[in-house]
Amino acid sequence: MLSRSLLFLLASSVRLGAGQDSGYQQASGEACCDALRNELPSSVGVFARGTSEYNARHQTYYSLQQQELFPTCTVKPNTASDVSQILRVAEAHKCPFAVASGGHMSWKGSSNIDGNFVIDLRALDQIDISPQDQTVKLGPGLPWINVYAALAPFNISTTGARNNFVGVGGFLTGGGITFESITKGFGADNVFQYEVVLANGSIVSVNKDTNADLFWALKLAGTNFGIVTQYEMTTFPSPVIWGAVSAYPITDQSTSDLLRAFEAYGHDDTNTNTFQSVSFASVGGVDMLSVVQCTLDGVPQGPLTSVEPISHSELVGSTHDVINQVIQGALAPTARTHWYTFTTRINTPFFKDMRAKADEIFTPLNDRDGLTWAIGFQALQKSFIARTAGSPVFNALTQANDDLVFILLLVTWDDPADELVMRNATNALGAWGEAEAERRGVLSQFVYLNYANEEQRIYERAVTKEDLDRLRTVQKTYDPSGTFVKLWKGGYKIPAAGYHGAETDTGVVEEQGHDEL
Ligand SMILES: Cc1cc2nc3c(=O)[nH]c(=O)nc-3n(C[C@H](O)[C@H](O)[C@H](O)COP(=O)(O)OP(=O)(O)OC[C@H]3O[C@@H](n4cnc5c(N)ncnc54)[C@H](O)[C@@H]3O)c2cc1C
Ligand SMILES: *[C@@H]1O[C@H](CO)[C@@H](O)[C@H](O)[C@H]1NC(C)=O
Ligand SMILES: *[C@@H]1O[C@H](CO)[C@@H](O)[C@H](O)[C@H]1NC(C)=O
Ligand SMILES: *[C@@H]1O[C@H](CO)[C@@H](O)[C@H](O)[C@H]1NC(C)=O
Repeated sequence: MLSRSLLFLLASSVRLGAGQDSGYQQASGEACCDALRNELPSSVGVFARGTSEYNARHQTYYSLQQQELFPTCTVKPNTASDVSQILRVAEAHKCPFAVASGGHMSWKGSSNIDGNFVIDLRALDQIDISPQDQTVKLGPGLPWINVYAALAPFNISTTGARNNFVGVGGFLTGGGITFESITKGFGADNVFQYEVVLANGSIVSVNKDTNADLFWALKLAGTNFGIVTQYEMTTFPSPVIWGAVSAYPITDQSTSDLLRAFEAYGHDDTNTNTFQSVSFASVGGVDMLSVVQCTLDGVPQGPLTSVEPISHSELVGSTHDVINQVIQGALAPTARTHWYTFTTRINTPFFKDMRAKADEIFTPLNDRDGLTWAIGFQALQKSFIARTAGSPVFNALTQANDDLVFILLLVTWDDPADELVMRNATNALGAWGEAEAERRGVLSQFVYLNYANEEQRIYERAVTKEDLDRLRTVQKTYDPSGTFVKLWKGGYKIPAAGYHGAETDTGVVEEQGHDEL
């Protein structure tokens, strides 16, 4: 139970605006699912509500709010060519759709849809390891734990998620924070080749030489450029790592020890071996500090404070075993949840004040069933940022010329009736945190796609104005008719016009200028 408070999760959100343009008549779910059944090869399964395949897809969604949406059918391609044909059917019949790999994006409608259909990528699950080249080809539908299981016998690993069931597809189209990010950047920075199905159904290879503009854009792909059907990534030797998860009571001693350790870690650019994150959390009104530690050489570290832990577990083993046995068990497999993320410089007094503000906002809600809240801090060192040089986020991240911190607010509760009050409380804490960080001069404008909620701006904040224009150019090149703008629901969309980011003087991003099509 204690481990539900861990905050090192990532999240992402997408604006739902695209496709709401008037005058574009969209087909009904029944008509679209019939068209899929009639026009696709019989090898491509189309599953109606109530079938076991449909239900299996439905149950992969991490967020219980996503599980409240019911597509008319799901369609399950086995190959890139199947995906291509599905897109042609969608375009011909004007069928809106959502795309799901692992289903772990946190917000309702990010990868599921009411009516219409979901393209369920779970059958794109190939793992093709080339030990001599130190590379691996991965299908998007794989959960990361399957990837680690396949790599472990070769004593190698790659830059994937730190949770069993996060999908390859969504993780790598939003960034991807990993145990190795301090030296390897985001997971997406370690993809050297993509196979992508474009809006018109063509299947293209994308790398630094071929479709190079798209290669760059795919590092922050969102749902704008194509459906990725294969990722080729680099691997690295990793016989064993060490991982530990600990929870401590919140005392002056534990707070000062753990935040001092985190601050030192966040500023240590020479460190190539360690991952460390710290979270303030509250589970059923019980407060704690939660720490995740990992060493990539497998050598255990001591505790970061002399305070006795409430709980502790650790293991030396493959990445698979550490995630599966130490980290996965710490998290609920599904949750009614709301996330909020922003990015700051490393600033311990601010971190402590975030916790005080969270106490003020959430203590009155302590009687709500199943309430947990957490404020997680994960480092984004200059060495991490340097590794994003091939990504649209690089120029935005280097603006601060400093080591940064991803802050993730992660709230869970049980009662659907508490949705609005929990969203409001989480958003109030996030808005306070951003305004206060701005006032103290420690706010970065960056918002991490995979941790954001549906109201947060990604493309207006995670890239510079120039790079946003460049992304728009890439979008016009590869989806000139705006098919994905109209039909692909969920995820994050490039705004058609406007930019609100580093040049705003309040640091608070305004609503205007986000033109939805
Ligand atoms: C328990 C948990 C642990 C997490 N741990 C981490 C972590 O360690 N590090 C981290 O950075 N993040 C982490 N996250 C956040 C995670 O990276 C995002 O939620 C990510 O979007 C999940 O990918 P998915 O394939 O499971 O999601 P989905 O919900 O299936 O997809 C997410 C988005 O990507 C789009 N998409 C999916 N597949 C494709 C594709 N093949 N081509 C194009 N678009 C596609 C979808 O349409 C959707 O918009 C975690 C989340 C949870 C819930
Ligand atoms: C992996 O490491 C183990 C333990 O060191 C060793 O016994 C095994 O031979 C290695 N496997 C490969 C494929 O290198
Ligand atoms: C929203 O949250 C703020 C901050 O906690 C609080 O002042 C306000 O009353 C809340 N509003 C609603 C409708 O819950
Ligand atoms: C599909 O779109 C791509 C990118 O715009 C273009 O290069 C290609 O020629 C198109 N293919 C067809 C068959 O229209």
